[in-house]
Amino acid sequence: MDFGFLSKYISLFVEGTSVTVAISLVALIFGCIIGMFICLMKLSTFKALKVIATTYIEILRGTPLFVQIYIIYFGLPQIGIDFPSIFGISSDFISGAFALSINSGAYVAEILRSGIQSVDKGQMEASRSLGLGYASTMRYVIIPQAIKNILPSLANEFITLVKESAIISVIGVREIMFTASIVKNKTFKPLEPLIIAAIIYFVLTFTLSKLVGKFEKKLAKANA
Ligand code: ARG
Repeated sequence: MDFGFLSKYISLFVEGTSVTVAISLVALIFGCIIGMFICLMKLSTFKALKVIATTYIEILRGTPLFVQIYIIYFGLPQIGIDFPSIFGISSDFISGAFALSINSGAYVAEILRSGIQSVDKGQMEASRSLGLGYASTMRYVIIPQAIKNILPSLANEFITLVKESAIISVIGVREIMFTASIVKNKTFKPLEPLIIAAIIYFVLTFTLSKLVGKFEKKLAKANA
């Protein structure tokens, strides 16, 4: 094995890493926004909203992210839906971020729902019987307790996104995996660039999961 190519291509890997982190962050942020709406719809007593939310969650979780990306990138332009590049951000990045965001939205919706439903029912009943309205009960009683379960799961969703974003390389987004392919083609070495990619992913996810672990301990203490 020969990692001599690194001196020449290290900056490409750094760029790739920043693209991976950026697209994962964007997907997490939009995933949270989408997830919040879907979760509210799913928890609503309005049947039609519930059905829409459930359908959304089931379809996005029940089909491969890979297929979703292909539909968005190759399929939608056929029916006139094209993602433009905005502010110098490539349309590939935007399509990829869109696919990851709508996918993540489904997972985040379930994270939020299970977080909220993990709070004992008695909390709602007690609070309502004390005269607090539904919204205030949610805001002051349920959400503050649910957040302890939700935040670590959201951080884990970010870790998942960092890893899953590798698939965006198939539409030409220059993230870590795409960088590894470029370097592979330039050096005629398939193994070493992939090992570098694996190391970068591992360092990212390992660091993040250590941080999540610490954070969880802190939350548990705050709870005690
Ligand atoms: N590999 C999974 C799939 O094919 C990706 C799931 C994405 N997960 C997530 N938490 N956003 O669908």
